[in-house]
Amino acid sequence: MRTRVFSGMQPTGNLHIGNYLGALKNWVRIQHDYECIFCIVDLHAVTVYQNPAELRAKINETAALYLAAGIDPKDCAIMVQSAVPAHAELAWMLTCVTPIGWLERMTQYKVKSAKQESVGDGLLQYPVLMAAEYPVLMAADILLYQAGIVPVGEDQAQHLELTRDVAQRFNSLYGDTFVVPDTSLPTVGARVMGLDDPTQKMSKSATGMNHAVALLDAPDKIRKTIMRATTDSNPEVDFDTAGPGVLNLLSIYQAFSGEPDDTMKTRFTGMRYGDLKKQVAEMVVAHLEPFQQRYREITADPACLAAILRDGAERVSPIANSTVGTVKRRMGLYT
Ligand code: TYM
Repeated sequence: MRTRVFSGMQPTGNLHIGNYLGALKNWVRIQHDYECIFCIVDLHAVTVYQNPAELRAKINETAALYLAAGIDPKDCAIMVQSAVPAHAELAWMLTCVTPIGWLERMTQYKVKSAKQESVGDGLLQYPVLMAAEYPVLMAADILLYQAGIVPVGEDQAQHLELTRDVAQRFNSLYGDTFVVPDTSLPTVGARVMGLDDPTQKMSKSATGMNHAVALLDAPDKIRKTIMRATTDSNPEVDFDTAGPGVLNLLSIYQAFSGEPDDTMKTRFTGMRYGDLKKQVAEMVVAHLEPFQQRYREITADPACLAAILRDGAERVSPIANSTVGTVKRRMGLYT
């Protein structure tokens, strides 16, 4: 049996080059080596309010972006999380075996719940729900399919550690049930930083005009955003003293081009920042233009996209239902 791969993205905000270089590009690279399931994790998205019509549209957009990036639906299952009820069911059972202290250690939980504190007590429940259901839901997504490899960006590595801990705890309480998954990070591009502030991870929810390059940004917008990227006070590229902004631009170039370190050094050492930015912008545009063309072709046929998502859910449901059945029997629940 081929090792199974599972990964997913939230259908919120605009997918950007961080999502592409950190995850999607890796998915495409390994898709024929493993049995792959790529999910649109809409149940995660609704941990914060989503306009229903917009969420529906974003689910389709995200699926179309997977396809535009080159995911082959004949070989891989592309599916929407809420189409397979077993995700929510397993999340509950795993919630019951997960100590709250494990959740409170999660960086994303700390950041998000700290932000919530200022909102007042109408949302008092929210951090609790986040803690209880967000990383555990992610663990459920992965463990449901007995995935051996999970290709993600660096920000998800801690959630993968939690997933491993939850799997091991369940296995030791109830007997061997889950495959304990490995994390797969790309060598370059695992953590793309904001172009306006290279100390912050590039994020879908950041609001700054020059923060991110979205996968569907027009070429001129891409060029403008990159030309305005924050650098440092050096006059030109020096690999030994470059600040985070310059290192970020270099790694974006390297992740798109696939060039080895020594070629990168020869190409860029001593280059003025304006010229570096032009080269990075042209590299990004050269990759995203054909990508956007494929996206337009895919979205021109919504029936085909809907059929791919239906087929994906049908293919994975038996695996998910079988895992939930085993978990219920192991826990002594009614089956
Ligand atoms: P999400 O939707 O925030 O991000 C989707 C993927 O993009 C990666 N990523 C980045 N990589 C590099 N640089 C960045 N600046 C950057 N920003 C995001 C993320 O690491 C991720 O791989 N909880 C997850 C979704 C999820 C999931 C799962 C992933 C739910 N269940 C099961 C894997 C397996 C999330 O919110 O990702």
